[in-house]
Amino acid sequence: MSRLETQVAIVGAGPAGLMLSHLLHLDGIHSVIVEMRSRQYCESRIRAGVLEQGTVDLLRHTGVGARLDREALVHRGIEIGFDRRRHRIPISDLTGGKCVTVYGQHEVVKDLIARRISDDGRILFDCSKTSIHGVDGTHPAVRVDHAGESLEITADFIAGCDGFHGVCREAAPSGHFQCFERAYSFGWLGILADAPPSSEELVYAHHERGFALFSMRSRKLTRLYLQARPDEDLGQWTDDRIWNELFRRFESSDGWLPNRGRILQKGVAAVRSFVCEPMQYKRLFLAGDAAHIVPPTGAKGMNLAIADVLVLSHALRAYYRAQTPQQLDDYSRVCLRRVWNAQRFSWWMTSLFHRFDHNEFDRRRQLAELDYLTTSQAAATALAENYVGLPFEGAPP
Ligand code: DHB
Repeated sequence: MSRLETQVAIVGAGPAGLMLSHLLHLDGIHSVIVEMRSRQYCESRIRAGVLEQGTVDLLRHTGVGARLDREALVHRGIEIGFDRRRHRIPISDLTGGKCVTVYGQHEVVKDLIARRISDDGRILFDCSKTSIHGVDGTHPAVRVDHAGESLEITADFIAGCDGFHGVCREAAPSGHFQCFERAYSFGWLGILADAPPSSEELVYAHHERGFALFSMRSRKLTRLYLQARPDEDLGQWTDDRIWNELFRRFESSDGWLPNRGRILQKGVAAVRSFVCEPMQYKRLFLAGDAAHIVPPTGAKGMNLAIADVLVLSHALRAYYRAQTPQQLDDYSRVCLRRVWNAQRFSWWMTSLFHRFDHNEFDRRRQLAELDYLTTSQAAATALAENYVGLPFEGAPP
């Protein structure tokens, strides 16, 4: 078995793992990332694409915002559709000028991989048989098979950035983590369409047939989602059926509809709420989807992951500079406060727009809430403040 030593072994080359490695590098701390997928897979996996103000500020501040500044779309409002009408929520006006930025998660991943590689960072793609060892001792290790050989990476700390299905959470003794979970009776069917977006802003639509979301990836690509069954058989969804369903759910009295175009990708995503507490076991720290999943409504997932690793990088910096473990001990508490706020907001957005197996009372209540949201500045401000993102703990000024 080959051996390697580093300060922080990072499992997973998604936004959390890559950003952590980048932030640590800026502080002079060494890390190695292991990833089971190929570089090509990581760079092309389509996920949500709305970045909070704090995420964008951090990408810029740490020197990985150049392409984002050239290519991303800045949004200063969103539209809420219900009852055949659309209402604009002026996000920037309600948040002292903050905005959200539409830039696909895989674009962030591409930028971070390129930067780690140009900084001589070590990312081992295509690893298999990843396992975690010695988390109870002072020298935990990650073992993988990579490029035809077995490799053991010994580190001071392990960062589990390996997603909901990853191996890191399982490395703690059973019962250490307490998990809180909420299931939903629906999923999201998402498409990417070769069609210029027909609205400058996102449209979140409530409809009696279910939720629909209009988003975009560029000036040429529209991204659309439909509430669907969680186990939806994509074979049953012809392109015509998808467009017909979208057009029904977005129907409004002013005639606005998304532009139709060739469907380039189709997929079904699960909707779930999940939090693991604490986010640490001794020298193992969980970040991003390994520790928490939010329902997609509001697009908080990647933003939470980035916020976690910012906290973790500061704590590791304090540890290496002054040998003070205090910030590492505080990691879970600091992150979980933001995580639960985002859980609350994502659950609320989900409950506002989706069709549940509920009765007519609940539907009328949903409509009353949408009415309140689109006529009360106080209600709209609460949405706007959460939508652009609550402050990042320890963010640069
Ligand atoms: C997107 C996804 C979301 O969950 C959301 O709330 C807004 C946009 C997207 O993929 O573009």
